[in-house]
Amino acid sequence: MKKIIFALFCLFVLSSCKEKVAFAETSSNQKKAGETVQSANPEVEKLRRVFAKMTERCKTAIPNGDPEEFLADLHKVLAEEKSAHRNDDLDLLYLIDKKHNIGSDYVPRDLKPVKNNDFWNASRNDLSLRPESYAALEELSRAALRDGIKLMVSSTYRSYKYQEGLFNRYVKQDGLAEAERYSARPGTSQHQLGTAVDFGSITEDWGDTKMGKWVYNHASDYGWSLSFPRDYEDVTGYMWECWHFRYIGKEACRFQKKWFSDVQQFMLEFVAAWKQID
Ligand code: DAL
Ligand code: ZN
Repeated sequence: MKKIIFALFCLFVLSSCKEKVAFAETSSNQKKAGETVQSANPEVEKLRRVFAKMTERCKTAIPNGDPEEFLADLHKVLAEEKSAHRNDDLDLLYLIDKKHNIGSDYVPRDLKPVKNNDFWNASRNDLSLRPESYAALEELSRAALRDGIKLMVSSTYRSYKYQEGLFNRYVKQDGLAEAERYSARPGTSQHQLGTAVDFGSITEDWGDTKMGKWVYNHASDYGWSLSFPRDYEDVTGYMWECWHFRYIGKEACRFQKKWFSDVQQFMLEFVAAWKQID
C-alpha cells in the first residue's frame, strides 16, 4: 500500500514539474484557475505573463511545446543579440512598425557604404548598412556566389527625410490608403535602422527569378528574415514584399521559424514584450 502511495506521489510531482503545455493559451483554450502547471523555473511564469499580452493572432501561431525548451531558445537569441551587435546602438531585434515610431533624429551610429564589388551588384552608389548587417550581407552573398548567383542590392539604409520624400511621392501617386499598404511612414521603416535590404527589382515577379528563389530559400541560414510575408498584411501592416529582408541573426531566424510560424512580426513583438516585463 505504502509503495502505491509513493508511486502516486512521484507521478504527481513529476507531472506538476515538467509537462508539455500549451503555454500560449488562447482565450478559447484557457486553463481554468487552479489548473496552472507549476514549474521550478520562475521564467516560466514570466513567459505566461508575456504571452498574456500578445495578440490572439500571435498566440494561435505558436505551437504547443515545452516552456523550458522555448526559454533555452530565447536565451540563445538574446545572447546572440548582445554579442553580435554593438551595445551603443539600437538592439538588433528593436521593434519598429506602424505602432512604433523611431522618430526623425535616429541615425545608426555607424554606416558602411555598400558599393559594387565582387560579391554583389549595387543598383545605386549611395547605399549603406550598419556594419553587422554589412558583414551578414557579405556572408549571404558569398553563399549565393557559390551557387552561381550574384545578388543585386537595391535599397538599404534610408534616412527619415528620404523615407518622408518616398512616402509622400507614393501618396501622390496612389492615394494615402494604398500607399500605406506598401510604404512606411517616416520614422516607421525598418530601412531607417540600417539593417534591412531590398533585393533585385523590388517587384513581385522578382520572387520567381533564380535570385529571388535562392534568397527566399537561404536567407535565414545567414540571419536574414523576410519581413512582410504573403497573407500577413493584417499582422505586419504591409503587403507581401518578397524582396525586403531584415538582418536579425541566425538564432533569431531559427527561433522565429520554430516558435512563431516563421513570422518576424510575432517574434519581434514577443521579444519587445519580454524585455519590457520584469
Ligand atoms: N516598404 C517598406 C514597408 C518600407 O517602406 O519600409
Ligand atoms: Zn524594403
